[in-house]
Amino acid sequence: MDKFVIKGGKKLSGSVDINGAKNSTLPILAGAILSGDNVMIKNIPDLKDVRTMMDVLRSIGLRLTEDFESRELHIKPSEKLNIETPYELIKQMRASFFVLGPLLARMGKARVALPGGCAIGTRPVDIHLKGLEKLGAKIILGHGYVEASASKLVGDNVYLDFPSVGATENIMMAATLAEGKTLIENAAKEPEIDDLAAFLNTLGAKIKGAGTDVIEITGVKSLGGGTHSIIPDRIEAGTFMVAAAMTGSNIKINNVRLDHLEAVIAKLQDAGVSFYKTGTTIEVAAPERLKPVNIKSFPYPGFPTDMQPQFMAAMTLAKGTSCIQETIFENRFMHVAELKRMGANVQIKDRSVIVEGVKHLSGAPVMASDLRAGAALVLAALAASGKSEILRVYHIDRGYESFEKKLAGLGADISREKDTALY
Ligand code: UD1
Repeated sequence: MDKFVIKGGKKLSGSVDINGAKNSTLPILAGAILSGDNVMIKNIPDLKDVRTMMDVLRSIGLRLTEDFESRELHIKPSEKLNIETPYELIKQMRASFFVLGPLLARMGKARVALPGGCAIGTRPVDIHLKGLEKLGAKIILGHGYVEASASKLVGDNVYLDFPSVGATENIMMAATLAEGKTLIENAAKEPEIDDLAAFLNTLGAKIKGAGTDVIEITGVKSLGGGTHSIIPDRIEAGTFMVAAAMTGSNIKINNVRLDHLEAVIAKLQDAGVSFYKTGTTIEVAAPERLKPVNIKSFPYPGFPTDMQPQFMAAMTLAKGTSCIQETIFENRFMHVAELKRMGANVQIKDRSVIVEGVKHLSGAPVMASDLRAGAALVLAALAASGKSEILRVYHIDRGYESFEKKLAGLGADISREKDTALY
């Protein structure tokens, strides 16, 4: 296992490039199952999760050729697909479950392992399954697997009890090959859903309204090939914005879709951070000291839960008290105990955290418990005085490409080392 060793207190400067979005790439790769022809994906990020999804597609029988230098991935179809996705792959990444809808639509049958619990909550898949049943799938649960089958899928109105991102994507993918029209109501509106729909439409799907809360899909007989370029990762961009904000720095972030980051930018502006836009580059300038700001995570266009840990880290250094509320996941405060070890004054109260800003954090050995919590600890360590060690960096590698190299490029004192301790 690797760890990051960080000597904090250095100001950042210069510019950093943002990669393609992890959360677009994963469902788009699953969506390639629907195609009967060659698919090319551009701007693909080199991430552990993306490589896991590539392994999932290979296990199903698709042929993939990747070139992470040019950020291109070619996917060749196969007449016969393996309908089973084993637990070994699903347990590595919940998003592997996205293959259920496309496999079912393409092959009439799919057997996919149920994702287990994970560090940030139980994360059930009931909304995915209810939606697929509404399209005519027969679902059997047993032995840790979901078995879905349908001689044909038929479009229908699917109302989601909660605008789940993954369920919207799974149902949307299945509906592209269903007979007739499907309406997904109370759909999730995240930009990654719009990106998936754009990809599927390039292949010949008929999807309207993605990015709004009603998505209309008119089923087609088959999908062809095509080329699609992934949108920039809004969470990676937001994380670098907070890095600048917390270290009192001024940096430039390239390849940003500002329209995808309105809630994050608005909250950072409330905290005193300034932004200057030139094309797709944004310059972030931190104030001397951050002001306290309350946030509440919500489905898009609300404040993203995937930025909550990083924003909380920033608020630990604000001048005053802030309240961080989490409404999407029931257990997404694993970073609180670790931030305390660095001298933060943070208290959990139900699904909120009260943060009393302190003047300084002090470096300490801390443990990443999940992807964004890990990122938050790295940011805190950059701002803290002295040395920190961030253990279990594999969580961070799932979603940030070359995180330490990009931060070092901005002037941070950070290195990746082998962690030989036994846990
Ligand atoms: C996606 C993102 C993740 C982000 C999350 C919320 C990907 C690969 N991951 O995850 O980074 O944090 O959206 O923005 O895109 N739920 C149910 N039943 C279901 C499905 C979800 O109860 O069938 C609940 C979950 O437990 C959770 C909430 O709904 O509390 C949100 O989950 P969802 O939007 O589905 O998140 P994911 O698609 O898993």
